[in-house]
Amino acid sequence: MQKILFVCLGNICRSPVAEGIMLHLIEQHKLHGKLHVDSAGTAGYHINEAPDQRTLHNAKKNGVDLSKLRARKFENKDFDSFDKIYVMDESNFVNVTRMTKDKNHHGKIDYLLNVSHTGQNLPVPDPYYGGEQGFEDVFHLVYKACEKLIEFHIK
Ligand code: 4NP
Repeated sequence: MQKILFVCLGNICRSPVAEGIMLHLIEQHKLHGKLHVDSAGTAGYHINEAPDQRTLHNAKKNGVDLSKLRARKFENKDFDSFDKIYVMDESNFVNVTRMTKDKNHHGKIDYLLNVSHTGQNLPVPDPYYGGEQGFEDVFHLVYKACEKLIEFHIK
């Protein structure tokens, strides 16, 4: 069982999209016993809240239901509970990395888009302060990376 955690800042826009798409693909490919996924935010602004309305609306439009997800804060014990920690941008990377001095933990952290765009450390841009297109772009960027993750686990 591979355990994967997706991390952004608020856990209401980007990382819930990654979690929801993965849950959707896990269901589709019957990978329940092989993959466990979750998401969290480095900030605690939105703890226990559902994803942002714009995120919910966009994901639903694209066939993914995020309504049952609730925001939580990234915790130090997540380094032990998860095999991989995929962050959305450089700021998430810095925030997560500086929470531990353990090199084994550091090895678990990577940019989500390195799954689809190897070695480029590309960000999933934060759509929070922008318009609808930002949410649509996030969905498709994250979807492509999630499909790759699933491919790795099917092979
Ligand atoms: P997320 O987006 O990190 O993708 O969930 C944000 C959500 C909330 C805030 C910023 C970014 N905020 O400032 O409340």
